[in-house]
Amino acid sequence: MSYPRLPALTRRAFLASAAVVSASTILRSQARATSVRAFHLRAGYGRAQIAPEPYGQTPVWCYDGSLPGPEIRVRQGERLRIAVANALDEETTVHWHGVRVPNAMDGVPHLTQAPIAPGEVFVYEFDAVDAGTFWYHPHHRSFEQVGRGLYGPMIVEEAVPVQVDRDLTWLLSDWRLTRSAEVRDDFGNRHDMMHNGRVGNTVTINGRVPDTFPVRKGERIRLRLINAANARIFGLDFGSHEPVVIALDGQPVEPHAPEGRLVVLGPAMRADVILDMTADAGSQVSVVDRFYEGLEYRLVDLAYEKQPLRDTAPDWPLALPPNPLPEPELATAARHEVTFNGGMMGAMVMQEMGGSMGEAAPGGMMGGMGSMMNMMHSGGIWFVNGVAAEGHIMDPILTLARDKSHVIAMTNATAWHHPIHLHGHSFRVISRNGKPTRHREWQDTVLMSPRERVEIAFVADNVGDWMLHCHVLEHQAAGMMGVFRVA
Ligand code: C2O
Ligand code: CU
Repeated sequence: MSYPRLPALTRRAFLASAAVVSASTILRSQARATSVRAFHLRAGYGRAQIAPEPYGQTPVWCYDGSLPGPEIRVRQGERLRIAVANALDEETTVHWHGVRVPNAMDGVPHLTQAPIAPGEVFVYEFDAVDAGTFWYHPHHRSFEQVGRGLYGPMIVEEAVPVQVDRDLTWLLSDWRLTRSAEVRDDFGNRHDMMHNGRVGNTVTINGRVPDTFPVRKGERIRLRLINAANARIFGLDFGSHEPVVIALDGQPVEPHAPEGRLVVLGPAMRADVILDMTADAGSQVSVVDRFYEGLEYRLVDLAYEKQPLRDTAPDWPLALPPNPLPEPELATAARHEVTFNGGMMGAMVMQEMGGSMGEAAPGGMMGGMGSMMNMMHSGGIWFVNGVAAEGHIMDPILTLARDKSHVIAMTNATAWHHPIHLHGHSFRVISRNGKPTRHREWQDTVLMSPRERVEIAFVADNVGDWMLHCHVLEHQAAGMMGVFRVA
C-alpha cells in the first residue's frame, strides 16, 4: 500500500494505516472492499450562526469550517480513507463513533495512536462494515473539543434502504452560551464534572437554533437523530405523530414505537426514526424535549405546507436489513462485572446499597463508605471498578478472550444517568434490572439510569485495547473510563 498523493503525510500516519491490513478480525471476516472513498477533514477554527439574528456569529472549533462537520456518506462495504489535518493549536484525534474499525483506526490518543500534533495529518482507513447512522468527533480533550463544535455525521447506506420520501439527519447539540452568544469557556469545571456534566442553555439542530421545519402531509421521513451534546439527554416528543424506531446506534432493531412515545437519546446515542407526517396540511406541530422534568422546551415546529404530498401514510415496509454482527451465545458466555461509582451523592448511594457492591468488584475496593471516602480523596470523581482513570497509560480492567461470547453486567452505583460506550464492538442490551429487554437491541452506547443494572452481550471479535467510558464528557474526563483488552 502506498499513499503518494496525500500531502504532508507523517510517517506515523503511514505506519498506523499500514497496520490496519493485518490487525483486524473485522477485515479478516469481511470480503475486501472494492472501492475506496477518499475524504479530507480539517479540524480548525470557524464561526457559525448558532443563535438566531440579531445575535452575531459564534466563534467555534469545527471541521472544514462548517458546523456540524461535513456529512461523510458512503455505501455499506466501501472502504474509507480519511485524511485528518489538524489546524488547531492543540493536539487532536478523530474517533468514528460506533463504527467497528480496526484498533489502530479508533482514534484514541495514547492508546491506539499518538495524538495528531498541530500542523500534522493522520490518515484513517477502514471498511464500512455496518450500514447505519454514526458520527465522528475528537477523542482528545473531548469535553472541550466536542463542546466547541468538533463533530459531524457519518452515514453508511444500506444496499437496499427502507423506502422513504426524505432521508434526513438531525445532529443535536447543546451549547453553553454567554449573553453575547459566545461559548462560555468554563470547560472542565469541577461542578460540571461532579454533577450531570456540561448541560448548556442552547440546543441546536445541525448547528443552528431551529425555528420551523417544513414538512408535507402524507410524507414519510427517515429521521436520523444523533446526540452530539457533551452531557444533555434528549427525550423527544413529536406531538401527535407516532415515531417508529427502526435503528438504534446505527444497528437495525425490530421497528417499534418508543416507550411513552418518547425518543430518548443519551450523549453519543443515535436513533433512526420513521415519521409519517399525519397532521393536517397548513398546521404546525411542536417537537418538545421532555427529558428533564420541569425543564421541557420546544425544540422545533414541524410546519405543514398547504399542499399535501398524499392523503394517507404509505404502507411501505419498515424493517432494515441486518448488519453482519456475530450473535453472542449466552449459555456459554464468560461473565464480567463492571461497577460505576462516584459523583455527588455517590457515597450516599453506596451506603443505601449497604456496600453490597463490594463482592462483585475486583480489588476489594468497593466495600462501603470507608473505601468510598478513600476514592473521593484520591482526587478522581468517578470510578470504574474502583479506579478513576488518570493519565495516558491505562491497564485493562477486563481482558476478553477473542472470538468468544461475553456478558458484562454493569452496575450504576451512582445517583446520575450515564451513557456507557464501548469501543470496537456493538453489543446486545439483554437485561435491565434483571428483566430481559423487549428488543435485545444492539447498541454501542447504553444509557444507564441511576442505580440501574444492565447486562450487555457480544462476541469480542475485534482484537486490541478498547475504551469503555461514560459519554458525558465531563464524567469521562473525571475518571469514568477504562480499557478492556480483546486478546
Ligand atoms: Cu464517542 Cu469514546 O467516544
Ligand atoms: Cu457519566
